[in-house]
Amino acid sequence: MPRLLLSSKSVKSVSVDALVVGLAPATGKRPGAPVVLGGDDLPRATRSALADAALAVGASGEAGTVHLVPGTPGLATPLVALTGVGTDPDHETLRRAAGAAVRALAGKRRVALALPTPDAGALGAVAEGAALGAYAFTRYRAAEREPVAEVSLLVDKPRDKAARAAVERASVLARAVATARDLINTAPADLAPADLAAEAVRAAEGTSLTVRVLDEQALADGGYGGILGVGQGSSRPPRLVVVEHSPARATAHLAFVGKGITFDSGGLSLKPAAGMETMKSDMSGAAAVLAALRAVAELDLPIRVTGWLAVAENMPSGTAIRPSDVLTMHGGTTVEVLNTDAEGRLVLGDALVAASQEQPDAIVDVATLTGAQVVALGNRVSGVMGNDEAFRTAVLAAAERAGESFWPMPLPDELRATLDSPVADLANIGDRAGGMLVAAVFLREFVGTSSLGTPIPWAHLDIAGPAFVTGEPWGYTHRGGTGVAVRTLVALAEDRAGR
Ligand code: BES
Ligand code: MN
Ligand code: ZN
Repeated sequence: MPRLLLSSKSVKSVSVDALVVGLAPATGKRPGAPVVLGGDDLPRATRSALADAALAVGASGEAGTVHLVPGTPGLATPLVALTGVGTDPDHETLRRAAGAAVRALAGKRRVALALPTPDAGALGAVAEGAALGAYAFTRYRAAEREPVAEVSLLVDKPRDKAARAAVERASVLARAVATARDLINTAPADLAPADLAAEAVRAAEGTSLTVRVLDEQALADGGYGGILGVGQGSSRPPRLVVVEHSPARATAHLAFVGKGITFDSGGLSLKPAAGMETMKSDMSGAAAVLAALRAVAELDLPIRVTGWLAVAENMPSGTAIRPSDVLTMHGGTTVEVLNTDAEGRLVLGDALVAASQEQPDAIVDVATLTGAQVVALGNRVSGVMGNDEAFRTAVLAAAERAGESFWPMPLPDELRATLDSPVADLANIGDRAGGMLVAAVFLREFVGTSSLGTPIPWAHLDIAGPAFVTGEPWGYTHRGGTGVAVRTLVALAEDRAGR
């Protein structure tokens, strides 16, 4: 995490390793040359020299582009990053532009950002993008180019309360996302279920969070057949981790449930080699829930939030579950396991029942659940499903505010019959068509009812594609674990807390 500073230094006199300014596409005024945004105190000549430099290197000002040019006369910085923001950028465009620039500046120690930040919201987005862009995973080797260590945000009023709060929030969020990314990027040999549980205990240190870890004995005592069944093929036993933020003044209660498969080989229904390459990321949902709880605690939100991490390693072995085995889930529902690679829904089923027993006001689960999600929505858009349209819409609104792309998907009732089993209450696979929806229809069976006798409002986030980047990085998103859903969960908790 870089240091984030608010500074009233002028753009022309700030002396750092690189300056970041926004670039917008050409307007009618000066055809051809893109327009430099931010840094309102830049002298006209400097501004126009930068526009000339932009033209010379072919910088268009289109969102998603970054060009580095030498500092022009009138600037105290040797290097300028021109980061495209397009026309009339929204917060997420600014977040990405800041992130892309800071990513391109890896290897420089100190940078200053002068992007258009008309309000505290825009400033927070820029700070967040910059902090998210200054990330590197260094557990197994040093970064090729060290991430930027210090980010100065150039503003008129660095002591402004709203500005300071926005930067503080950005730093909490970016730190949480980095925690999730680190866990996801860790090799599965180094992150067995017990290790992930230990990481949760560690993450709670120095915060108000409490952590309860159910080991294999406690899981057996509690009848958690789904988590135990998935974990039984591994030499490294499963865990259910309960992380809680419970302030005395709490008004609402949210439950977050995360899929924590530390490695998904498919089990006896073994995946092909290529399909396994990224399966260390199959605990991204649990990582997001843990990171979000840490942020909720640091922001001291006045609501109760309970995180449930359903953690197991899905391995083939002589002790593994077999296709046609029947598991008794927490709460008594029986499931015939026809495909051991459909394991996420088994661990989540147990956790959804357990979460429901506490009667929260709403439940959100997050999971790298189906390849079908990737087919339907691709690698940048996650699916949102649920049993309550108003709550699903609230989750989408939180995602929008957080700058994460989610899209609503239906839960067609007719898919339930495709999950019928001749021997148990349910089978763990149904129709192949609409696989993302089938998985969600399976999960719906495990969401409990409230004291009013109606289903607890529940939303399911399938992040299979967006959780992990194997291609080119973009915006503030690096290769590897992305930490997607952390910011949406926190935004939802903030909404509930009235922030
Ligand atoms: N973890 C996978 C889903 C996945 C696939 C995540 C690709 C990220 C990228 C999940 O456990 C799985 O294997 N799902 C199966 C379900 C099928 C057997 C019904 C799938 O989607 O193929
Ligand atoms: Mn699987
Ligand atoms: Zn999986």
